[in-house]
Amino acid sequence: MHREIAKGVYYVGVDDHHTELFEGLWELPFGVSYNSYLIVDEKIALIEGVKDPWVDELLDNIREIVDPAKIDYIVMNHMEPDHTSALPDLAKIAKNATMVYTAKAAPMQKSFYDVPLKEKIVEDLEELSLGEKTLKFVHAQFLHWPETMLTYLVEDEIVFSCDAFGSFGALNGKIFDDEIDMGMVESESRRYVSAIITSYLKFVQRGIAKVQDLGIGIRMIAPSHGPIYRKDPMWIVKKYLEWSSPELEKNAVIVYGTMYGMTHRLAVNLKKELMNLGVEVKLHNLSYSELSKVITDTMRAGILVIGTPTYDAFPFPKVWSFVNEMQGKRFMKRPIALFGTFGWGGGGVFKLRKMIEAMKCEVLEPVVRVRGRPNEQEIEDCKKLAKVIADRLK
Ligand SMILES: Cc1cc2nc3c(=O)[nH]c(=O)nc-3n(C[C@H](O)[C@H](O)[C@H](O)COP(=O)(O)O)c2cc1C
Ligand SMILES: [Fe+2]
Ligand SMILES: [Fe+2]
Repeated sequence: MHREIAKGVYYVGVDDHHTELFEGLWELPFGVSYNSYLIVDEKIALIEGVKDPWVDELLDNIREIVDPAKIDYIVMNHMEPDHTSALPDLAKIAKNATMVYTAKAAPMQKSFYDVPLKEKIVEDLEELSLGEKTLKFVHAQFLHWPETMLTYLVEDEIVFSCDAFGSFGALNGKIFDDEIDMGMVESESRRYVSAIITSYLKFVQRGIAKVQDLGIGIRMIAPSHGPIYRKDPMWIVKKYLEWSSPELEKNAVIVYGTMYGMTHRLAVNLKKELMNLGVEVKLHNLSYSELSKVITDTMRAGILVIGTPTYDAFPFPKVWSFVNEMQGKRFMKRPIALFGTFGWGGGGVFKLRKMIEAMKCEVLEPVVRVRGRPNEQEIEDCKKLAKVIADRLK
């Protein structure tokens, strides 16, 4: 399948309904697309590849338009294998193509694939003429890897924005924002940002400011995953700016683990007390909530409330792993409230506290720590903690 998105510019990407976890971590209930674009001018350029199992489908899509052996340039905005692992097979067919990427991408390409094609290293804002059309390359370091760039098609005013402005969800032939349910796009792009971009939010703000300073016209934003924005290209830019804003919200999110419901009893009581105090609150049981949804809700939560049972003298593994993920995602610092239960020696909440304090986050008092099933008095302690949280959020 291919579709012309502007004169001589084609969508030739593919849908992946097979991968269960993106990057081995993030659920894909609606699949994901690897978007690839073909520009046919005096020279022929392919912008982005796909993940390797989909190379034949990509080649078939290209063959509907031109013989892939005639490709002159393969532009790689980013070296992550979801866009580049088709390269070794592509190189066997597009034998005369030149790979176009940044200087930082060159050693990555060599270490990942080492394909025997010519390469062209492009500087920031360098232009490449394809005949009537011109490509302009805009370096966008750490959006979300160090070698990333965006490619701008000058005459058609299309930004090929790589992973920036991307979204989960396969396209099923409906490739434009005006053809898709935008409610679905909003939740899947938000989940995508949480999973993939959270560690690099300041680079999102920086990248958007850089493109705005160039003062170029933008008629379309064509990312490497998810829909192409042509009806309202600024919609997704505004969303990304909102989601990457460092401001915390005036709410609390409770994230906890539980095996037999002891810790759960504290979690639901805390939630009830917070609601009674008028605090906006969300709750995630880590054994059920999908991690990217938990990150979406916790990224900007004013106060994060974390609960854990003790498991082999440590915090519950899913809680431990979530807190590690928070650290990797460089969550903005904010006060953290802690609660938990244990059966004999404890250690869960205690070690969790140490871990949080090592991240230089303030731990609110009281920490609610209970042996066995929380009794009436201990449920009262939840009230105290809820009050402290509510006062902090004022
Ligand atoms: C597999 C397993 C390991 C546990 N390890 C410890 C432990 O090392 N130290 C401790 O004090 N309690 C331990 N416990 C007891 C639980 O921490 C305690 O029962 C807790 O209240 C369970 O809370 P939950 O029902 O919310 O999961 C363990 C329980 C299980 C099931
Ligand atoms: Fe990527
Ligand atoms: Fe990607």
